Amino acid sequence: MIDKPFSQACENNKRPILDILTRVFAHTQHVLEVGSGSGQHAVFFAQNLAHLTWQTSDLAINHAGINKWLDESPVTNVHRPMVLDLNENWPTPPPHRQVDAVYTANTLHIISWPLVVKFFKGIAKNLATKANVCIYGPFKYHGEFTSVSNASFDQWLKGRDHHSGIRDIEAILLLANSAGLSLIHDHVMPANNQLLVFSKN
Ligand SMILES: C[S@@+](CC[C@H](N)C(=O)[O-])C[C@H]1O[C@@H](n2cnc3c(N)ncnc32)[C@H](O)[C@@H]1O
Repeated sequence: MIDKPFSQACENNKRPILDILTRVFAHTQHVLEVGSGSGQHAVFFAQNLAHLTWQTSDLAINHAGINKWLDESPVTNVHRPMVLDLNENWPTPPPHRQVDAVYTANTLHIISWPLVVKFFKGIAKNLATKANVCIYGPFKYHGEFTSVSNASFDQWLKGRDHHSGIRDIEAILLLANSAGLSLIHDHVMPANNQLLVFSKN
């Protein structure tokens, strides 16, 4: 028996993120979430976006926690987590559930840069034209942090794992571009975060 994982950050950011996803995913059918973490976002967004299905994914170590959130929620449009390790090929969804959007939050500053590159290679390989990609988290602009607290957070991340760190938006946009993504909007979010919305060409 495990305790249900809880992220205060997810509680704080879920409504501002939902406000944007409601518009971006208005015509979306099947979302794949990369790095679902606790599973809180999946349950909340699926509850509030009842027209779509939400596929959770993460490293296997996080599946028990995500399943616990699903066990205790009445939502019927969230799929149990798949193993999606960015070091490996992405799992293939069943033909009737072709993913037409990808969502990921607070992952690109945790995973190593080679894995960020693989994330975008996965997008290039697995997403069809017109699919949307939403990426939430902190970024640097022109080499500068957007706040003093983000600079401290970056130091803390690197102290914990020197492969982690807040990414330069310019480098992310180059990778996105090479994956066939066009930036539609860079939303400024509370707590010095951004929500990047892309469309696949
Ligand atoms: C800071 S957590 C973010 C979780 C959640 N999305 C949120 O906003 O709270 C980073 C996530 O990246 C996932 N992650 C780390 N390495 C990964 C990998 N190689 N492939 C896929 N996900 C990975 C972790 O398991 C974790 O769920």
